Amino acid sequence: MSNEEKKDISVLLEENRVFKPPEELIKQTNVKKWMDKHGIKDLDELLEKSQDLEWFWGEMAKELVEWYKPYDKVLEWDPPYVKWFAGAEYNIAHDALDKHVRTERKDKVAYIFEGEPGDVKKWTYGELYTEVNKLANALKSLGVKKGDRVGIYLPMHVELPIAMLACAKIGAIHSVVFSGFSATAFSDRLNDCKAKVAITCDFFYRRGKKVSLKKQADDAIKNSPSVEHLIVYKRTGDEVPWNEEKDLWWDEITKNQPAECETEKMDANDLLYILYTSGTTGKPKGIQHAHGGYAVGTAQTLRWVFDLKEDDIWWCAADIGWVTGHSYIVYAPLILGTTSIIYEGAPAFPEPERWWSMIEKHKVTVLYTSPTAIRAHMKLGEEYPQKCNLDSLRLLGSVGEPINPEAWIWYHKYIGKEQCPIMDTWWQTETGHFLISPLPITPLKPGSATKPLPGIAAEVYNEEAEPITNAGGNLVILKPWPGMLRGLYKDPERYENVYWSKFPNTYLAGDVSRKDEDGYFWVQGRADDVLNVAGHRIGNSEVESALVSHPKVAEAAVIGKPHELKGESITAFVVLKKGVEPSDDLKKELREHVGKEIGKIARPDEIGFVNDVPKTRSGKIMRRIIRAKAIGEKVGDISTLANPEAVEGISEAK
Ligand code: WT7
Repeated sequence: MSNEEKKDISVLLEENRVFKPPEELIKQTNVKKWMDKHGIKDLDELLEKSQDLEWFWGEMAKELVEWYKPYDKVLEWDPPYVKWFAGAEYNIAHDALDKHVRTERKDKVAYIFEGEPGDVKKWTYGELYTEVNKLANALKSLGVKKGDRVGIYLPMHVELPIAMLACAKIGAIHSVVFSGFSATAFSDRLNDCKAKVAITCDFFYRRGKKVSLKKQADDAIKNSPSVEHLIVYKRTGDEVPWNEEKDLWWDEITKNQPAECETEKMDANDLLYILYTSGTTGKPKGIQHAHGGYAVGTAQTLRWVFDLKEDDIWWCAADIGWVTGHSYIVYAPLILGTTSIIYEGAPAFPEPERWWSMIEKHKVTVLYTSPTAIRAHMKLGEEYPQKCNLDSLRLLGSVGEPINPEAWIWYHKYIGKEQCPIMDTWWQTETGHFLISPLPITPLKPGSATKPLPGIAAEVYNEEAEPITNAGGNLVILKPWPGMLRGLYKDPERYENVYWSKFPNTYLAGDVSRKDEDGYFWVQGRADDVLNVAGHRIGNSEVESALVSHPKVAEAAVIGKPHELKGESITAFVVLKKGVEPSDDLKKELREHVGKEIGKIARPDEIGFVNDVPKTRSGKIMRRIIRAKAIGEKVGDISTLANPEAVEGISEAK
C-alpha cells in the first residue's frame, strides 16, 4: 500500500464514519420487501416486532421450508433444552434437493467446482440429487441406518456435500472432520461418536502438490475399531494403499445403485450432524444440530443478510469442514436454490490474483470470507484485485474473528470498490447461523458486527447479569434461536456447565464484547482459554495435551500472541523431562508432533524451553500471567502462585 493510500484509510477511520447503504440498494433487498409487505416502517420496528419469536420464526418457516407433517408448536423451551417446530415430520435433504427437482431448478447449477489445477465442473440440482440418492442407497446397502454415525474426511470437493446430504437423506448423522486435521484428530472423533462408516478421497490438490488423504484416513481407521468400511472418492486416480476388507471405491459402490432413494421422514428435532469444536479442556466438544430449526435458521439468515436472489453467484470461501461451510456452503444455499462456488485449492495459488480472477470468471456476486484472508490479500497488494474485473460483486461478508478497521476499509475499497456493504457476521459452531450481523439495510461501523438479527436477543452482561453499555462484558444470548445447538454429544453435564451455569437460563457465548450507545456490538475475542488462529478455534489445553503426549515433554503452557495476519499466533512454553537437552531440532520435532496430533494449524509458531511454568497452588497453569509476561504487559499480583519465580523464567525462555 502506498503512503498516500494509508493516509486515505486513516482519514476514513478518524472520521469515525458510518457507512449508510444507498437508498437504491435498500429498496431492492429481500428484507425491505418483506418489511413493506408486513407494514414495518424501519429496522428498529422490525427488530422489536421480531422479538415475538413464535410469530417471527413461524413466518420464516412458512416461507422457507416444506414439512411432511406440520408442527404443533413453533417453540418448546425448557432451558437449556429446546425443541423447534415440535411435532413436525421433516428432512433437510427434502428442502435442499427433493423440492427443487420438481421445478425448473432441476437444471439450475447448484455448484460450480473449480479444482486447484483449473478444472471446472458444474453440478445442477438434478445431478446433485441423483448422486446423493446413489450414495444414500450405497450407504444403506452397507447397513447404515437412521441414527448411525458416519465420519467424513474430505476436502473441498462437491463429493463432500454429496456425502453429507446422503447421510441426511437416510437419517444418518454425519460428523465431518476438516481435511487439514491430522489422522489422530480424525480417529479421536470417529471413536468418540462410534462411526460405522467413514468417507474420504485418494488425493487432493494443495499448492500444486497432491496430498494423500487416504493414507491419513488409513492411519486413523487403524485405531478406530467401530469403522466397518471406508468409502474412497477418486479425485486423481493415483495409486493408494488398499485394504480389501474395508475399503470401497465410491464410483464402484454407487455405479449400479438406483437413482432414486426415498427420503427418511424424521422428527424435526432429530439430529442432523455432530461437529467437533475446541473448548477449554483437552477434549473437543461434539456440537449437535437438528434438522428442522437449523434449516429455518440458516436459510433465513442467508436470505436476509446476504440478500440472495435467484441469479446470484454466491461464494462462501470457507472450508466445509468448519461450521461456516456446513451452514453456508451446504445447507442454506441449497435450501434457497442458490448457485455456489466450491474451490479446491489455496487462495493465492499459483498467482496472487487466483481468487479475483475466479470472481471475474464465474461472475461472483457475493463474497464471504475471513479477516485473516483479507489481511493476507492486503499484504500481497491491491495490484492483484485491480488486475481483475470485480464489477459483478454487490455484497461482501466477513466471519471468524473481529475485523480490524484497516482490513475493513481495504476490503471495502479494493474489493467492493466502495459500492458493496460488508456484512460482519458474528456466530459460532454452537449457534449454527449468524446471530449478530448487519442486514444490507443497516448503517455500518467498520469493526462492529452491528446488532442482533431479527428474532435474536443478545446482550452484554457484567458479572452480576446486568446489561452494560460502553464497557467490555460477557456476550450472552437471552432467548433460544432456531439453529441452537442441541447439547453436546453424550455429555449433557458439560453442555450445562459450559454454556448455562454462569447466568440462569442465559446462553454464555464465551466472548468478550462491548455494546455502544447506539446498541452496536463490538466483539473483542474469547473470554476463555481458547485461541482464535486465522478464524479457527483451538483450545490452549488441546495444544498443551498434544505437547505433553511427546515422550520428552514434562509440562507445557500455551498462549496466544497478537499476530498481524492470523489474528493470534501460538506460543508454547515447554518443560522438558529430566536429562533431556533442549535444542532447535527438538523444537522442530515438537512442532511436527503437534501437527501430527491435531493438524498443521495448531503447530506452535514459537516454542520456548523453561524450567517451570507458573501455577496456582492447586496446580492450574496461569496462562493469563504467562501471556502478560510474554507480550510485555503488566503481570499483576503473583504472590498467590505456588511458584512465583517461574514468572521471571518466562522472559528467559530459550
Ligand atoms: C468464535 C466462534 C462462526 C463461524 C466461524 C468460527 C469468533 C466469529 C466473529 C465476528 C468477532 C467472531 C468468536 C466466536 N467470531 N465470528 N464476526 N467477530 N468474532 O466458528 O470456530 O465456532 O468460533 O469465533 O470468538 O465465539 P467457531
